Amino acid sequence: MSNDPLLQPYTLKHLTLRNRIIVTSHEPAYPEDGMPKERYRAYTVERARGGVALTMTAGSAAVSKDSPPVFNNLLAYKDEIVPWIREMTDAVHEEGAAIMIQLTHLGRRTRWDKGDWLPVVAPSHHREASHRSFPKKMEDWDIERIIRDFADAAERMKAGGMDGVELEAYGHLIDQFNSPLTNELDGPYGGSLENRMRFCFDVFKAMRERVGDDFILGVRYTADECLLGGTGKADGIEISRRLRDSGLIDYLNVIRGHIDTDAGLTDVIPIQGMANSPHLDFAGEIRAATQFPTFHAAKIPDVATARHAIAAGKVDMVGMTRAHMTDPHIVRKIIEKREEDIRPCVGANYCLDRIYQGGMAFCIHNAATGREQTMPHTIAKADTRKKVVIVGAGPAGLEAARVAAERGHAVVVFEAANNPGGQIRLTAQSERRREMISIIDWRMSQCEKLGVTFHFNNWADADVIAAEEPDVVIIATGGLPHTEVLSKGNELVVSSWDIISGDVKPGSNVLIFDDAGDHAGLQAAEFIAKTGARVEIMTPDRSFAPEVMAMNLVPYMRSLQKLDVTFTVTYRLQSAEKSGNQIIAHVGSDYGGVEKQRTIDQIVINHGTIPLDDLYFEMKPGSKNLGEVSYDQLISGAPQTTERNPAGTYQLFRIGDAVAARNTHAAIYDALRLAKDI
Ligand SMILES: Cc1cc2nc3c(=O)[nH]c(=O)nc-3n(C[C@H](O)[C@H](O)[C@H](O)COP(=O)(O)O)c2cc1C
Ligand code: SF4
Repeated sequence: MSNDPLLQPYTLKHLTLRNRIIVTSHEPAYPEDGMPKERYRAYTVERARGGVALTMTAGSAAVSKDSPPVFNNLLAYKDEIVPWIREMTDAVHEEGAAIMIQLTHLGRRTRWDKGDWLPVVAPSHHREASHRSFPKKMEDWDIERIIRDFADAAERMKAGGMDGVELEAYGHLIDQFNSPLTNELDGPYGGSLENRMRFCFDVFKAMRERVGDDFILGVRYTADECLLGGTGKADGIEISRRLRDSGLIDYLNVIRGHIDTDAGLTDVIPIQGMANSPHLDFAGEIRAATQFPTFHAAKIPDVATARHAIAAGKVDMVGMTRAHMTDPHIVRKIIEKREEDIRPCVGANYCLDRIYQGGMAFCIHNAATGREQTMPHTIAKADTRKKVVIVGAGPAGLEAARVAAERGHAVVVFEAANNPGGQIRLTAQSERRREMISIIDWRMSQCEKLGVTFHFNNWADADVIAAEEPDVVIIATGGLPHTEVLSKGNELVVSSWDIISGDVKPGSNVLIFDDAGDHAGLQAAEFIAKTGARVEIMTPDRSFAPEVMAMNLVPYMRSLQKLDVTFTVTYRLQSAEKSGNQIIAHVGSDYGGVEKQRTIDQIVINHGTIPLDDLYFEMKPGSKNLGEVSYDQLISGAPQTTERNPAGTYQLFRIGDAVAARNTHAAIYDALRLAKDI
């Protein structure tokens, strides 16, 4: 038996958990019609198969109709959910993991124009900034109804074979009752701490009566809101003790912070560039104060920190949630002593930011996550070994190389630069996005293990490639910044990438025209503003940097606002002309009728990339498929068999930004879904 602290079993009441690593509740927004159908099940089971002790599914499953989901959560108030839950719990149990579900009433943290268009309810009329609803202040019958709804939902989950239920309190209805900032009821549910916590205990009592003692009940709550006038640390410790002493609850899942704003949420769930495990010591203090089973997750992305969390007695069970979205097989790899093979979570938060925009959670560099029915986490060997030549060692090229090599092919990669990474290497030059380089480093180390041959500083041309006698050629050459967007004066501008790479010195009074709206524009702005320059970001869109998304925007704003960067939306830079050593920028608007001018000394354009595709077109005539991709075969997961040129000697494909400017996830998905069938 291993003496690794992470691999020790843990007994939670009657439940034996096989090790100390859990996936905490999170809603990846995979439900179909509010039910956990095949996609959901496949995603959940993959993590159980990977060895996690307990997977907590369904972040924030709704118990009531007036808690309509804000990002496609499960509808636990429907009886029809029970058989779907049963299929999932059976499948997870078969893999040896325990499974629980998180239930909630969102209170004011939702919208009235969703679901059944019922009024949003809360213990006060105070609006939550993030979701913008002005709530109805709850009445006695609302309280009774919602307590009943919690009990009904818990009963459904037990009938579905769950090992337990966790209540999502933080930021949701229960903590809206607990916090003095959001509870303006009179007694018996408002006023003193005892009164404010009454709702929480009434809910737990009602659930316990329904589910009995042989069922785990837990709570995920904030033990310090970090808000003036809110639940502070001392109150949090008192709340924790009262939860323990109630005898109704089997564990505490500790959160520190508040989630009513994007900035607050990002401090609770930190993203790349923010400190690792920022609330772990705090969770440890709660455990010490209560001597009660304590769980916690918040940016514990690596095994070493998780091991420390357990070994140092900070927590009983450590959450590695996004880490499992990046690599579902963490525990298996720890057991097999292959920790270095774990695909690292880089904190990009593409997963979480997408669900707040109405999308599904996808991992920036594991395209199989959430697509388990069609995309493999473990690549199968091919029947026939082929020679695969890849041009470009950015994320797309390296993913193609890794997957093709896992298939057992002989893989050769040509890269013009002296090191791998492409745009990611530049991105990672920003201190805050340094973690992105692990996307490249992990692939390089996997490729090296798999025997991939790399030729750096090598401009591959058709002759160089032909000399390799390839069966398959994949062009992953990426793109070059596209700056020709002005009607006049394009020669006066530089690109955001020129700034990020350090190739161009920042000006002192700079206009950034950003209609791509991605990270590069803001990274360039930060880079320039840090030199002391005056910076204005202008976009023709209704909001700036829409592709960066909510939580990723937070660290940028914290920096850019301090540097006094200004933001101008709904204006379009049209042309530029030289005036002495200054530039006059002519500005209009898609809405018409305005003409403005700016006098600056530098214009930076952020407008995506145009494909570097010369080599692809050079290779096309000699290929069997003339570059054609069968989308039907690609989507259905069949090998590419298109033949358009009988004289051709190789199959030719291009992927990533060499096709069109998209993002890292798209580039990696292009590569995985093509290369897994070569
Ligand atoms: C896509 C996604 C959805 C989430 N939804 C919920 C949720 O509904 N309820 C909840 O308590 N936490 C939710 N979380 C937070 C996670 O449970 C976890 O606390 C957070 O990701 C920090 O832990 P980590 O750094 O190990 O990922 C979500 C996280 C992600 C990535
Ligand atoms: S998108 Fe980023 S934060 Fe989310 S799981 Fe993937 S690597 Fe981690």
